[in-house]
Formats: sequence, structure tokens, C-alpha cells
Amino acid sequence: MKIFIDTAEVAHIKHANQMGIICGVTTNPSLIARSGRDFVEVVTEITQIVDGPISAEVISLDAENMVKEARELAKIHKNIVIKIPMTADGLEATKILTAEGIKTNVTLIFSAAQALLAARAGATYVSPFINRIDVLSGSGIGLIEEIAHIFGVHGIESEIIAASIKNAKQVVDAASAGSDIATIPYDVLLQMVEHPLTDKGIEIFLKDWESVPK
Ligand code: E4P
Repeated sequence: MKIFIDTAEVAHIKHANQMGIICGVTTNPSLIARSGRDFVEVVTEITQIVDGPISAEVISLDAENMVKEARELAKIHKNIVIKIPMTADGLEATKILTAEGIKTNVTLIFSAAQALLAARAGATYVSPFINRIDVLSGSGIGLIEEIAHIFGVHGIESEIIAASIKNAKQVVDAASAGSDIATIPYDVLLQMVEHPLTDKGIEIFLKDWESVPK
């Protein structure tokens, strides 16, 4: 499973990229707002850091304006992927953009039915939201499993991005369930790096090293 970072914080993207663990970035209007920066400026900067798919979301609700926004965003860089909400207009826009060779990430997916429709409209990526399902006592990972099964059985090429990830266990479960990609917040990536036994192991090695004749 590939790993994207889910943030618009440039410093965090740089660090994750330097560690060699990410190959793409997802943003959304909330993350852009949290960065406190201009949308186009921050997305442009991200394209200069990571050489992989960078999702930038449209905010229009009707297909015509979604497509207009998307065409402008796509001009920023060849790696821009247009994030489109999973609505009837979103599907229309996805179909048009796909025909124009613009990549899309259909977002806010909460059912396998939605994922199937997004794929059939031509979505490059579909993004089921794991944690937002879990907090309502559903199973986000169960949804990933279901979508992965359907896409596998029918040879559907859209890639699954497990989104709305809040802990390392969800990442590992998404990988086991057959997700192609997980988009992960920076703090969760750091949680994944750490293990108390690794720290303890380093401590023991360094202590033992002190007794090595030098
Ligand atoms: C996905 O691309 C979204 O940016 C994302 O993961 C949002 O999820 P959250 O708002 O539940 O964290």
C-alpha cells in the first residue's frame, strides 16, 4: 500500500518526503484553511516538494463550475489531481475531466455503491473516509474491504485511498483490507515511526557500546 500525507502544512510535507515514506499529498478546504495560506500558492509549493499526485479540491457544487475550477487547478502542475465531492454533479464533472485527461479523486465516499459509481464515472481515485464512519459505529475498514473486493472482481482500475485516518491501526488494517493507498496525517505518520522497544533497544546498544575497548 502506498502512503500519501493528508495535510497542507508544507514543513510536515517536507519532513515526510525527506523520510522517503510518501509518494503523494491530499489536501481539502479545511486543511487549506488550517494552513492559513493562499490555496493556489500552497498547492503550487507542494508540487515543488513531492513528485507525485497532489489532490486539490474544488468548492463549487455544480458540475459546470467544478469543471471550470478543475481546469484552472490542473494548469498549476501535471501532478495535480482534482478532488471532487461524491454527488451527482461531482460524477458529471468527473466524467468530463476524465475525458480531458485530468485526474480525479472522488472524495467523501461512505458506501460501496458510491465508490462503484465514482469508478464508473472514471475516477482515478476514490476516497472512503474511515474514521468518520467508525465514529458513527460503522466499520470504515469493512467498507475498504468491500470496495477492494468489488474493484478486484470487476477489474476496476480506480485506486482506493483510505482517508480520514486517525491512528496507526487504521493504516495497517486498511493495508490488510486491500487499500491501494492510505492518506495519513503527519502526527499519525510520526506515531507509526515510533515504538518503545526501538527506543529501549537503542538505549541498550549505546550502553553496551560504552564497554567496548576504544
Ligand atoms: C482525504 O483526502 C481527506 O483530506 C481527509 O482524510 C479528511 O478526513 P478528516 O477530516 O476526517 O480527517
